[in-house]
Amino acid sequence: MRKISLDYAHEGLFLGRSIIDSEGHILLRAGVELDEYYIDRLLDLGIHYIYIQDEIFGETDEIEDIISEETRITTVKMVKKTFNHLQQDRKINTAALRKIVNNMLDEILDNSNVLLGITDISSLNDYIFHHSVSVCTLSIMTGITLGYDDTHLLELGIGALLHDIGKSKIDPEIIKREGNLNEEEFALLSKHPQLGFDIMRNSIDLSLLSAHIAYQHHERWDGRGYPRGLSGNNIHEYARIVAVANIYDELMAERPNRPPFEVNQAINLIKRMSDIYFEPRIVKAMISNIATYPVGSIVQLNTGDIGIVTHLNNDAPHRPIIRIVFDADQRRLQHPHEIDLSKMTTVIPSQIMSERDLNKLLPLKMVE
Ligand SMILES: [Fe+2]
Repeated sequence: MRKISLDYAHEGLFLGRSIIDSEGHILLRAGVELDEYYIDRLLDLGIHYIYIQDEIFGETDEIEDIISEETRITTVKMVKKTFNHLQQDRKINTAALRKIVNNMLDEILDNSNVLLGITDISSLNDYIFHHSVSVCTLSIMTGITLGYDDTHLLELGIGALLHDIGKSKIDPEIIKREGNLNEEEFALLSKHPQLGFDIMRNSIDLSLLSAHIAYQHHERWDGRGYPRGLSGNNIHEYARIVAVANIYDELMAERPNRPPFEVNQAINLIKRMSDIYFEPRIVKAMISNIATYPVGSIVQLNTGDIGIVTHLNNDAPHRPIIRIVFDADQRRLQHPHEIDLSKMTTVIPSQIMSERDLNKLLPLKMVE
């Protein structure tokens, strides 16, 4: 199973992962054979990336998710409901949110040895709700690495899930075009940390520290963030964690002005931002939880060979097991073989192949 752009989808491919909207409806179920009608429908819904089962690179391990599909759906729906309530000037249902984050926490703790290897896919309209759940998951994973107890993890998780809640008070048209705004619109958008803080601190039974996550998640380690220009340890540690998780998830998503990053590109960029935007200790803790080359990635090794990641080594996030399918001369192998990069010292991935690179390499419609 691997992720491709819909531009390269065609009839006869099988969907690898169900596509779900923010209402929890399954738009297209895993296993379904794609045809022109389905592809057009997905494009109409604003979905541009899908997971497929691949016939050329062959079977891989199941891609493990840190939280179950059921929990993801319930939580996405809950975030959307909370946004809707706030738009109607209703209150946050704190008890329900606490219950749902507790549920996520239990599942994440059960999977604490699993590397994050999946990107949630949503339409641009629903992005903010899916984003909230992904940021919450990655923040909790980082909190676990930093040795937090359950009380702190819960406080962190609730704040992370609601970090962008202030956006419920901003024109949805502006939210949808984020990344493509003029100065005036950006000034409006930049009010969301303060708006979120006000909503949360006025909600009963919500920790003030969770509220500070909403307030401080756009502050920068070097003091050049907003709204208050706080720096270093003056930014609460929870907000320092959510700041990194927020950027990581944003890079992994398609935005109105650019396609999604590959995991290794996103990690490299975040490493470069370390000590400027983010606290290095937190960057390190977060990255240790992410599979640099997730199952299903097509990678080229420094030997020139090309293959698919079939299995992760959870103790070595940069060194998965790869099935070599093309040799260094880009000839398709009769008998693909697997190599375990954790057992090799000098063989490393040099790049993740994009769909465009792959298409140059082989006609994807080719049938053996
Ligand atoms: Fe934000």
